[in-house]
Amino acid sequence: MIEAIECSKAIGNKNILNNINFKVDKGNIFGYLGPNGAGKTTTIRIAMGLIKPSNGKIYVFGKDIGINNHLRQKVGILTENSGLYSNLSAPENLIYFGSLYSVKNIKDRAKKLLDFVGINYSGNQKTGTFSTGMKRKLSLAKSIINDPEVLFLDEPTAGLDPEAQKMVRELILDLAKNKEITVFLTSHNLDEVQKICDHICIINNGQVIVDDRLENLQKKYSRSVFNIKLGSKDMAVKSSHILKEKNILSEIEIAGDSINILDGQIESGEIIKMLVENNIEVKEASRLKSSLEDIYLDLVKR
Ligand SMILES: Nc1ncnc2c1ncn2[C@@H]1O[C@H](COP(=O)(O)OP(=O)(O)OP(=O)(O)O)[C@@H](O)[C@H]1O
Ligand SMILES: [Mg+2]
Repeated sequence: MIEAIECSKAIGNKNILNNINFKVDKGNIFGYLGPNGAGKTTTIRIAMGLIKPSNGKIYVFGKDIGINNHLRQKVGILTENSGLYSNLSAPENLIYFGSLYSVKNIKDRAKKLLDFVGINYSGNQKTGTFSTGMKRKLSLAKSIINDPEVLFLDEPTAGLDPEAQKMVRELILDLAKNKEITVFLTSHNLDEVQKICDHICIINNGQVIVDDRLENLQKKYSRSVFNIKLGSKDMAVKSSHILKEKNILSEIEIAGDSINILDGQIESGEIIKMLVENNIEVKEASRLKSSLEDIYLDLVKR
């Protein structure tokens, strides 16, 4: 549904994107990740046909939507500056944007969408006085007013409270899984990405460093961590010293009243035995799998 083919973008003498390739399948939620300034928003702007790449291309529905206006009608976008009219109410905004797409029965559609995102249709409060969360929900409603098949969401949950984040996450999942909308999502909230994305692409300095399905990433890059919960913080510090003295070569990290041993190969029984022999009370021991955040930090630091 979306495909970047050897796409590069330079502005002035700065290379913002460098030979980017990726492919987004229909109905997938594609997580496009990377540090601030990596080039995520630029990628979306090229895909939407708002700016031209210096080289290569990004196709949506197999075409350049910058020059295929009828295809742009089937795409929705939510950006950081939502483009809402602050002197209009929520329904007025949706009715206005719906009219740009010649949406039929626009009042009904606006009402349905406001219900969907949890905003009161009969309210006449001006959008300019909305909270960040309400604006974002309204922007999300606006982004799907034209019933798109492909949806670009640039940081849809940034600045939202946990409840609103959860709501937006559920809306996105509903759109992808029940309406088969293909979602291209950027987010710095890796926990959220891990919860909803099927496929992950990480870029850094304008280059793709990883592009794979989430489950493959977890298989490939997960480091198993052996977590041992001790009685207290002091015990954790003491345990770390003991293990270091015993020449445990793995990296040991103290986390509150626990220690994490960052090595999948370690013989866990031996470790516990060493601690117990040194009069350390072990409360719990378990193996933890790396989160997407751990994997991301490892890859971006390389
Ligand atoms: N019009 C422009 N002129 C000059 N530089 C630009 C322009 N647009 C983007 N850039 C630069 O391109 C780089 C990538 O910007 P972009 O907004 O795509 O990053 P991002 O990955 O979306 O970052 P963030 O996570 O902060 O949103 C940045 O260094 C930015 O300063
Ligand atoms: Mg951005």
